[in-house]
Amino acid sequence: MSVTRNTLLKMKENNEKIVVLTAYDYYSAKLADEGGVHMILVGDSLGMVIQGESSTLPVTMDEMLYHTKIVSKTAKNAMIIGDMPFMSYQADINDAIMNAGRFLKEAGAHAVKLEGGVTVKNVIREISNAGIPVQGHIGLTPQSVHNMGGFKVQRDEERLINDAVEVEQAGAFSVVLEGIPADIAEKISQKISIPTIGIGAGASCDGQVLVFHDALGLNSGHIPKFVKKFANLHEEATKGISKFIEEVQSGEFPGKDHCY
Ligand code: KIV
Repeated sequence: MSVTRNTLLKMKENNEKIVVLTAYDYYSAKLADEGGVHMILVGDSLGMVIQGESSTLPVTMDEMLYHTKIVSKTAKNAMIIGDMPFMSYQADINDAIMNAGRFLKEAGAHAVKLEGGVTVKNVIREISNAGIPVQGHIGLTPQSVHNMGGFKVQRDEERLINDAVEVEQAGAFSVVLEGIPADIAEKISQKISIPTIGIGAGASCDGQVLVFHDALGLNSGHIPKFVKKFANLHEEATKGISKFIEEVQSGEFPGKDHCY
């Protein structure tokens, strides 16, 4: 790892944007790392983009560790963040510390991320005190989808600012701001000294994160407003598969060049 929490703090001080991408396996990690992102988040979004679930809730610790281990051993430069899955840190503080520790000890992550503001400040403090860097995540927190009444933009300015301040005071080294109006994200980014990483939170955050499949257009169907596709791999892959079928059926593939 060449990117550390100090690198990220300096980037915020110097107004240099931090770029974060999720990754879940060998090729996504290799592409993100060699592409030069600063952090790779092994997000519990894998429940949706790898497992095809409709939320992140079913994802387990074992699944997160499996994917984090692959990403950690692949990436050479980026800081690797393991995302703590639903119910791995909410019920018991000792379980939370032990589960966070597993991401570093067994899966080679450099830090963990967990969702929530004021309500998880003690969890952030205890995990940080155990020597494990913690990234907070406030605003639209997908593990609370049912409590929020859906994946909804969060607009309570006072609560959001308070959450961000508490997360910083508890010892987090950075915080994800998801699904909040750009003007509130700007106020938060100015108020706290740790880097804010936005997703659906406007351009004033200290950095931006996107899900790998969203950023590269591997998804078809509904695309959230905050996503920009920087490539259209779904279209490319669909074309490639049709061509493969066509050439096998026509006898064009394999040709002489592909035979021993
Ligand atoms: O799980 C995830 O990928 C995330 C990001 C979208 C921030 O939490």
